[in-house]
Amino acid sequence: MIMSRTEAAPDRARGDLTERLLAGLPPEAVLTDPDITASYANDMASFCPAGAPAVVVLPRTVEEVQHVMRTATELRVPVVPQGARTGLSGGANASDGCIVLSLTKMDRILEINPVDRIAVVEPGVINAALSRAVGEHGLYYPPDPSSWEMCTIGGNIGTASGGLCCVKYGVTAEYVLGLDVVLADGRLMTTGRRTAKGVAGYDMTRLFVGSEGSLGIVVRAVLALRPQPPQQLVLAAEFASAAAACDAVCKIMAGGHVPSLLEIMDRTTVKAVNDLAHMGLPDTTEALLLAAFDTPDPGPDLAAVGALCEAAGATQVVPADDLAESELLLQARRLSLTALEAVRGVTMIDDVCVPRSRLGDLIEGVERIAEKHKLTIGVVAHAGDGNTHPTVCFDAGDADESRRARESFDEIMALGLELGGTITGEHGVGVLKKEWLAREIGPVGIEMQRGIKQVFDPLDILNPGKLF
Ligand code: LAC
Ligand code: ZN
Repeated sequence: MIMSRTEAAPDRARGDLTERLLAGLPPEAVLTDPDITASYANDMASFCPAGAPAVVVLPRTVEEVQHVMRTATELRVPVVPQGARTGLSGGANASDGCIVLSLTKMDRILEINPVDRIAVVEPGVINAALSRAVGEHGLYYPPDPSSWEMCTIGGNIGTASGGLCCVKYGVTAEYVLGLDVVLADGRLMTTGRRTAKGVAGYDMTRLFVGSEGSLGIVVRAVLALRPQPPQQLVLAAEFASAAAACDAVCKIMAGGHVPSLLEIMDRTTVKAVNDLAHMGLPDTTEALLLAAFDTPDPGPDLAAVGALCEAAGATQVVPADDLAESELLLQARRLSLTALEAVRGVTMIDDVCVPRSRLGDLIEGVERIAEKHKLTIGVVAHAGDGNTHPTVCFDAGDADESRRARESFDEIMALGLELGGTITGEHGVGVLKKEWLAREIGPVGIEMQRGIKQVFDPLDILNPGKLF
């Protein structure tokens, strides 16, 4: 059979690419079997386009990453960096013919330094593995996305992840002090510092946090640590409406309390978690508020917060009996999104963050949107941060329901902006919210961001098609 030029050319190009990559990588680090490379096409976001990678590379050293980037630059091949692919906005989705650059094999903790209170890590270290390792030194790495047992520090840096403890301890950006980054052309750049302070030049470190792999490849990170606090004790409060739970959140924050966790799960979410894991959460409640303190003596704080919940109309306030019960409540919370997926098969997860004083307005608006589109939208929220995850549950096999799901997903972002919030508090833009980034930051903002992209990636080979 005579092959047409259009069929032969990509194969030859892929052959060249593979050969060039193999000149600087061991054979086991270069995957070309289409069945295997296809399994690297997506992160965990639904409804995001993904292409077929030409090749997946799994480097173990900085030099190998530099080789990959030099090759990509020479051959003008797009590179999609990936961690554990637990992202929720399609930011790690492959594009057609790309090199997927998986950093998962670069998973060494290089240093834990209790005096400087830092850890130096490679990007593929799993978040929970780092937490456990620093815990052995009496130290704490706070950012804790729900996916912490799977997600990588590199991925956390790429999306500027948050988590449950951020209400007290802040998000990933606050813990990244310095980075080693392989640039698009293969040069190695070091940003930031390992000192407690440092203001030398522009804050390039912060620029990379949340850049979704579009500016360079993070190959090493210096992370700030804190002393390990006592394990937190959780209180659960039930409310007859989400509005009352939001009122309690406002009272707690205005009252000067510093909870280590302040989360809301609505009735739909509570029921979904019970259905999935039979955890015995109180599923007659309209909203469950979880508040926790990790101070040496959390009793008085929990009592004060309990009283504020009652003042806001809580129907029941139940402090956990012990640490084990607290841990169980946290596990239930972390299961929320998995549980909501089971409701209609598929979900689209919003990540709108509003000033916490507007939390009640957002949740009320989401209820209206759900009613208008006749959809189930479960709401789980990092309430203390005003960061909500209205989760649209739908049947992807039903075209009309899918259309309504996308519409309500968009309407929730519009509402978030109207309330003075942002379209994404912690999951990033990826491909899912591209048009919305432009709406949030405006044409001048987009122009300046594109300018920065151009400086770092003049050939547009780093995760092209994401963000803008
Ligand atoms: C959570 C993730 C989805 O809060 O951000 O569970
Ligand atoms: Zn979250």
